[in-house]
Amino acid sequence: MRGGDKPLYLDPSQPIDRRVEDLLARMTLEEKVGQMCQYSGITMEYERMIREGRIGSLLNVFGADETNRIQRIAVEESRLGIPLIFGLDVLHGYKTIFPIPLGLASTWDPDIVRRAASIAAAEAAADGVHWTFAPMVDIARDPRWGRIAEGAGEDPYLGSAMARAYVEGYQGKSLSDPDTIVACPKHYVAYGGAEGGRDYNTVDISERTLREIYLPPFRAAVKAGAGTLMSAFNDLNGIPASANPHTLRTILRGEWGFEGFVVSDWNAIGELITHGIAGNIYEAAEKALKAGVDMDMQGDVYRRALVQLVREGRIPEGLIDDAVRRILKIKFMLGLFDRPYVDPERAKKIIKCREHLEAALEIARKSIVLLKNDGNLLPLSRDLGSIAVIGPLADDHEAPLGPWSCLGDPKDVVTVLEGIKSKVSPKTKVLYAKGCDIEGSSKEGFDEALRAARESEVVIAVVGESRDMSGEAACRAYLDLPGVQEDLLKALHATGTPIVMVLMNGRPLSISWAAENIPAIIEAWFLGVQAGYAIADVIFGDYNPGGKLPVTFPRTVGQVPIYYNHKNTGRPPLPDVKWTSKYLDIPYTPLFPFGHGLSYTRFEYSGLEISPVEVGANDTVKVRFRVRNVGDREGDEVAQLYIRDPVASVTRPVKELKGFKRVTLKPGEEKTIEFTLMLEDLSFLNSEMKRVVEPGEFRVMVGSSSEDIRLTGSFTVKDYVEFPLM
Ligand code: GLC
Repeated sequence: MRGGDKPLYLDPSQPIDRRVEDLLARMTLEEKVGQMCQYSGITMEYERMIREGRIGSLLNVFGADETNRIQRIAVEESRLGIPLIFGLDVLHGYKTIFPIPLGLASTWDPDIVRRAASIAAAEAAADGVHWTFAPMVDIARDPRWGRIAEGAGEDPYLGSAMARAYVEGYQGKSLSDPDTIVACPKHYVAYGGAEGGRDYNTVDISERTLREIYLPPFRAAVKAGAGTLMSAFNDLNGIPASANPHTLRTILRGEWGFEGFVVSDWNAIGELITHGIAGNIYEAAEKALKAGVDMDMQGDVYRRALVQLVREGRIPEGLIDDAVRRILKIKFMLGLFDRPYVDPERAKKIIKCREHLEAALEIARKSIVLLKNDGNLLPLSRDLGSIAVIGPLADDHEAPLGPWSCLGDPKDVVTVLEGIKSKVSPKTKVLYAKGCDIEGSSKEGFDEALRAARESEVVIAVVGESRDMSGEAACRAYLDLPGVQEDLLKALHATGTPIVMVLMNGRPLSISWAAENIPAIIEAWFLGVQAGYAIADVIFGDYNPGGKLPVTFPRTVGQVPIYYNHKNTGRPPLPDVKWTSKYLDIPYTPLFPFGHGLSYTRFEYSGLEISPVEVGANDTVKVRFRVRNVGDREGDEVAQLYIRDPVASVTRPVKELKGFKRVTLKPGEEKTIEFTLMLEDLSFLNSEMKRVVEPGEFRVMVGSSSEDIRLTGSFTVKDYVEFPLM
């Protein structure tokens, strides 16, 4: 429906709120409910429903021509011409694929994350996508959970900084810009707290843990202006997240003032029946809508139940109007009513353009974490006589895309073998042997691999997980290298040829043997389309790695959950004292700690200054120090600030990240880094669940990781201060 004298809602000169109200007043109840229904893909049946105004959104449709074709049905063949909003999981790139979010978090550089998100948004928007189901901001302390790959790791402070950066990157300055898409922080909330690290499993946590660990990244995303949010699958303390008025209304809308709309995760409304809190689709729809879920992703529950519930008086139509208002407002803000179609020529120009691929390489380099480099084995000379590149992931075009790789194409991926071949001198002989599969027990390929190792001066062993071993519904009970990969490493190690291990994985792995015996280990995560070039740049020293771990690596799965910001307990572990909190069979410390990452150069910290040291209610605390590059090679260092509140009315973590900065320093260069702590940054929930700062000493720790503390100091807060809950 278009043409003729324009109704107000089609007049772009009118304020959005007026256009929403004008349109809402024209809609039938069926059309209103239609806006609250989202379906995946396109079918003849969906096209019919679109014509009847009974679908508001599609996911998993993309491409300028196809989205234009479908949008024309909605805009030109339905009664009110309400455009569809097209959603897609654009998590770490659209077609130019970047490192998985756990890798992006390893940059500890929000500017990098913002850049990756803005490129992804530009490519997706050019191809007719309006909305990404991202960022995934679930805090994850359990690496058995496959979705740890999709987020920013275990820490609320780092996670909040990344959440903000993603939203700013995706949404830019205005949703109506052609290069932006609306963000959708997910999965609200505490989905990462699944018992046993098993996806979709029960989450039962305290209100304090909910508010101090799992909510902050969502709070940051909402403050950054996220236009939508996705409710999660999980049962949260007995009330599933997609029917939870406490989190969806009291906190999200009441405390935070969130004005966007909430979409359920895939059929999460229908699953309320399986959870056992709804006996049928009518109860499920009623609970979800009253809790605050505005749109039903692929559940077909709202379509079947809401009209009847309103007609029977079980749901006030006003609740429907509120939901539809929020959905329409986002569509107006996106400019869909005024510019419903995209220009196919634009997509051809910007998707996978040179600038985006160059950015992908820079971002991949910065995501790499150097876990170990004994004897400075790395970087290697590119003039070596012979190099053996071995392992199931050495020439794998799929794995570097990682899980949720959107429209990433394996043909676009540069493998490690290709990267190395592009780097070494013409006289260097590069041998390749797969050695074994990622999974499975066959060792048939060992002989060929060992021959290559014996003939070479160094082995580059590329091992890890397949891209399907992390992401959704991809949990692992063990965290070891899958299959016989460790046996392959041991056999290679026995040849005596030095080994550089490149790890490709979607989660922390308990690589204890390798950490003990392999001299150099590079954590490469799944780095995206430019993986091979980025890894080769690090191996041969064209790029000095500066990434840091956003998650703790356990020695074994038996340590899980293990995270850096833990409580002290009454008997903190002491290696030589039996009656303290530790294990009989392994050291209690992690294999690699949160914030860990090495460099080809060295950094010295000095000159810690804290001011004021007596802090009043209205003061801010400045923490200043210097970092110097005392090596002979330029490099990045991520300086980290941790705080401890040693005595409080409730137990507090032994340390909490409260500041970080990635700086690039030339050899000999020194920079001063300053963090400003607001008093609210020190706040916590006391025994009455009030957000407070209590008088007393606060310890300051500055360092290169949560364990590699270089400078310490303290300050004293003089006053008791209360803050708003969130
Ligand atoms: C999935 C995921 C969610 C994703 C959605 C749409 O089940 O849980 O993260 O955004 O469905 O693909």
